[in-house]
Amino acid sequence: MAFLADALSRVKPSATIAVAQKARELKAQGRDVISLGAGEPDFDTPDNVKNAAIDAIRRGETKYPPVSGIVPLREAIAAKFKRENNLDYSPSQTIVGTGGKQILFNAFMATLNPGDEVVIPAPYWVSYPEMVLLCGGTPVFADTTIDNGFKLTAEVLEKAITPKTKWLVMNSPSNPSGAAYTREELRALAGVLLKHPHVWTLTDDMYEHLTYGDFTFHTIAEVEPALLDRTLTMNGVSKAYAMTGWRIGYAAGPAQLMKAMDTIQSQQTSGACTIAQWAAVEALNGPQDFVTRNKAIFQGRRDLVVSMLNQAAGIKCPVPEGAFYVYPSCAGVIGRKGPSGKVITDDQDFVTELLEAEGVAVVHGSAFGLGPNFRISYATSEELLEESCIRIQRFTASLM
Ligand SMILES: Cc1ncc(COP(=O)(O)O)c(C=O)c1O
Repeated sequence: MAFLADALSRVKPSATIAVAQKARELKAQGRDVISLGAGEPDFDTPDNVKNAAIDAIRRGETKYPPVSGIVPLREAIAAKFKRENNLDYSPSQTIVGTGGKQILFNAFMATLNPGDEVVIPAPYWVSYPEMVLLCGGTPVFADTTIDNGFKLTAEVLEKAITPKTKWLVMNSPSNPSGAAYTREELRALAGVLLKHPHVWTLTDDMYEHLTYGDFTFHTIAEVEPALLDRTLTMNGVSKAYAMTGWRIGYAAGPAQLMKAMDTIQSQQTSGACTIAQWAAVEALNGPQDFVTRNKAIFQGRRDLVVSMLNQAAGIKCPVPEGAFYVYPSCAGVIGRKGPSGKVITDDQDFVTELLEAEGVAVVHGSAFGLGPNFRISYATSEELLEESCIRIQRFTASLM
């Protein structure tokens, strides 16, 4: 009898963590390495949020929370969904989890039976398929293309749906591509979903506040209210408020699903950290100037990176609408020879050679289900981004 669970054999470790590890190893050997792999803002959590947590500790808010979250946070979440997304959820339809990641996991855990399919547009955030597999479901990938901005089309969605489809996962703006859907694009997808009443949508709106230029964020249940009773709208404070370490994510959805997720959470963590929940109340209800300021900083970085990458030979970088990632194609350098003498046959070779030759750590696109591409996180200083892009330009120019 095997000691480890069969479920473990279905999942693989995170490629993004592997890249970070490799970069750390090279740094430890004294190499000059710039890591553009991390998916977290380089800003500090705002002071008003930190103070709210300190006040909560001083008030003695240090006990177990209610399983689905403290009442003031669930009220703040319902108010946020109304204010920013025009979605009518009561506080009792919300749940707070230990990061958005746990919300997603619990939603799959609460709904997937063996054989159930989950449609995941590719490129995707690395955790979606692994979570589906861990929960006994089957990921079904729906490909996008660089030419349509890495966005799922109605036609591709229609083809991916079968009688076994339980969920469609939406993630806009997207990790890894930065692509975000317009109202019209969401409406087209909603048109398909309306024809298939057995399909639910899990929308991961984690990067909602990071969209640039005149792009306006929309979420699917807002665009098509008829889908509200089969949509789980997920969000969190990690990216918008630079609170990755506080581990607070949240969601709202139909009562029956929320109850099931509460049951799972009650036997799992008993709820998210009480102190961090009080900090999240302040993040959602307090002043939002932090978000506006950082959005402007990220937009400047995006524009810098896109422009410099498009000046690198063989690299094509579309302008993403949001998040803090770009997802350029390296198709133009496939077949060329790197400084080590090795021919670059795919995006994994490209990122390995780039790291060896120039000390720039990025993540290969095939880890996100669509290549040959690579992901750069621009959640780092302009100086480092500029230096990285100079190195990438030098690297691609040196290929033979
Ligand atoms: C698309 C997406 N969803 C969810 C998460 C998880 O967020 P959290 O830190 O709240 O668990 C991430 C984090 O990288 C993400 O990129």
